[in-house]
Amino acid sequence: MTNAFEEAYARSIDNPEGFWGDAAEAITWTKKWDKVLDDSNAPFYRWFKGGELNTCYNCLDRHVEDGRADQTALIYDSPVTGGTVRKYTYAELLDEVSRVAGALKAEGVDKGDRVVIYMPMIPEAAIAMLACARLGAIHSVVFGGFAANELAVRIDDAKPKAIMSATCGIEVNRVIEYMPLLNEAIEIAKHKPSVCMIKQRPECEAKATATKHLDWDDAMNAASPADCVSVESSHPLYILYTSGTTGQPKGVVRDNGGHAVALKWSMKNIYGVDPGDVYWAASDVGWVVGHSYIVYAPLMHGCTTVLYEGKPVGTPDAGAFWRVISDHKIKTLFTAPTAFRAIRKEDPKAELLGKYDLSHFKALFLAGERTDPDTLYWAMEVLKVPVVDHWWQTETGWPIASNCLGLHEYPVKAGSPTKPVPGWNVKVLHEETHEEVPAGDIGAICVKLPMPPSSLLTLWNADQRFKDAYLEEYPGYYKTADAGMFDEDGYISIMARTDDIINVAGHRLSTGGMEEVLASHPDVAECAVIGVDDQMKGQLPFGFLVLKAGVTKEPEDIVNEVVQLVRQKIGPVAAFKQATVVQRLPKTRSGKILRGTMQSIADNKAWKMPATIDDPVILDEITEALEGSGLGSARK
Ligand code: COA
Ligand code: AMP
Repeated sequence: MTNAFEEAYARSIDNPEGFWGDAAEAITWTKKWDKVLDDSNAPFYRWFKGGELNTCYNCLDRHVEDGRADQTALIYDSPVTGGTVRKYTYAELLDEVSRVAGALKAEGVDKGDRVVIYMPMIPEAAIAMLACARLGAIHSVVFGGFAANELAVRIDDAKPKAIMSATCGIEVNRVIEYMPLLNEAIEIAKHKPSVCMIKQRPECEAKATATKHLDWDDAMNAASPADCVSVESSHPLYILYTSGTTGQPKGVVRDNGGHAVALKWSMKNIYGVDPGDVYWAASDVGWVVGHSYIVYAPLMHGCTTVLYEGKPVGTPDAGAFWRVISDHKIKTLFTAPTAFRAIRKEDPKAELLGKYDLSHFKALFLAGERTDPDTLYWAMEVLKVPVVDHWWQTETGWPIASNCLGLHEYPVKAGSPTKPVPGWNVKVLHEETHEEVPAGDIGAICVKLPMPPSSLLTLWNADQRFKDAYLEEYPGYYKTADAGMFDEDGYISIMARTDDIINVAGHRLSTGGMEEVLASHPDVAECAVIGVDDQMKGQLPFGFLVLKAGVTKEPEDIVNEVVQLVRQKIGPVAAFKQATVVQRLPKTRSGKILRGTMQSIADNKAWKMPATIDDPVILDEITEALEGSGLGSARK
């Protein structure tokens, strides 16, 4: 007997057009598609060719028309502003979104124009995204923890007509003024937006922007509501920049039609959530999790979504998540394992949990990094609900592997996100032969093309980079750049990235990008950045610097300067705080830096002397430098 998961999975692989054609019936289309999957321009596959829809209509108008007008659509919960809680019904959210869209339209923002959204976690961030979707404009949200330079790189790539922002973001210990960052970014960027729409927050006065400045509330109040613009299924909904192997981020392009279909399907089938339920993704709208599961999927499904401006600890304590779950009767929480490690560190016995009623809480989903078994068992023990590790990427927009609670709940195996989700034909391939490897062997995790709906269409203005980065190495497959293996029961384990991406507190960062910043320091001749294990954040970046000949400055001063430089150029979110000066970097005879070996030394893992090493003595120096850095004690 097959279960519902096995049936769904088999059909999705054998007959993807039938499977996704049925799923697409759950979306309101202004024009029905002619073909479910268009492969005429492979590898640029397009879903629902000929179909037209509006994503904002499916998130808001549709529910207002179907009797959900008075249901709460969005709850803003903000412990960092003294405990503000603001609720929007579907009708209220639709009203604000339509007027903000009207304000953008009055500024000439049209279908296909780009809009950069640089916002803290306030409702206006979601409103801005939906307003763009309403007009068929393409938004690009930039995470608030990125510095001006990173914002400028994205402005130059996306070339936005407008920027939507706020006067500040609020971290636990400080107010972060956005206007100086925004103005600096506009100054650095070659492309200049024609208008900035700024939400004035009480915590920080607005300052003039470097271009035409609209006050958010004034513009919204003066605007006439804009209607939905119907767009082709493959019209881009958004660009989301994510770390690549260099300082130039990759602009992942998401469509409207495939995205709507996959996300709507995922809510019931993966998360087990029904319309009317309260769903909380404790992430940030700057990341893909925030796009998919704070904004689009829960609203598309008619749920109540929660937008939380706070942290798991320190706002005010390690009971913050339990308080939010209890206050808003949350059924499902989605967050990163690092948040649970932070809570556990402060309240190992989860004593604060006793203060709250979690009777509505039914499941915890974790992603962004592997859930370590300790954290998994702890969460299962204290919460007594299913705890689901699920695996996905910015590029995919929704989970590739998960325990699909709405289809069939499998027994949990610690360290594994269970099985590939319907739609995802995942194979583990040998890195040299490109053949499938047997169960139990580690290889490159790849997805057989075509990928299911919602996967990236391409990289913004970079079709060739899209092909080179993802499709070239394993012909016929998408390379996830994760290494891992299947076991005998078909469970998958994600072990490591195969590129230079590291995962710091669930945030995806490029060590290559950090190396570019370190190399720009005038005294640095050469450098390397690796990700070292960290008990709380999963990984932390660590830099090695080789100084130019004749530099007389103290090494500590140079280390402090590069730490500041990364903060200024990339942003505090890089969490780059440790570096050390060494005489040389270990390299192969062909000049490749042995980052993997350095990482094993730093993590106290067994390592073999690479046969191709140029000068083995350097590794002793590296070991000494690590031990002297304080990192040595942390890793023992
Ligand atoms: N704007 C400005 N600065 C920000 C920021 C933002 N939106 N988000 C983070 N930062 C800053 C922090 O203040 C911190 O600065 P500091 O070096 O001056 O202390 C730095 O960036 C690093 O932030 P973070 O990695 O978040 O560390 P933290 O110590 O503040 O918090 C956790 C640690 C684990 C509590 C926090 O990372 C967390 O809640 N993680 C959840 C992960 C998550 O949401 N992942 C998204 C994918 S699901
Ligand atoms: P991002 O694009 O920021 O979502 O990061 C994607 C990367 O995070 C993946 O390629 C993995 O390396 C890692 N990742 C995300 N979720 C998981 C998970 N559940 N288990 C292991 N790694 C994960």
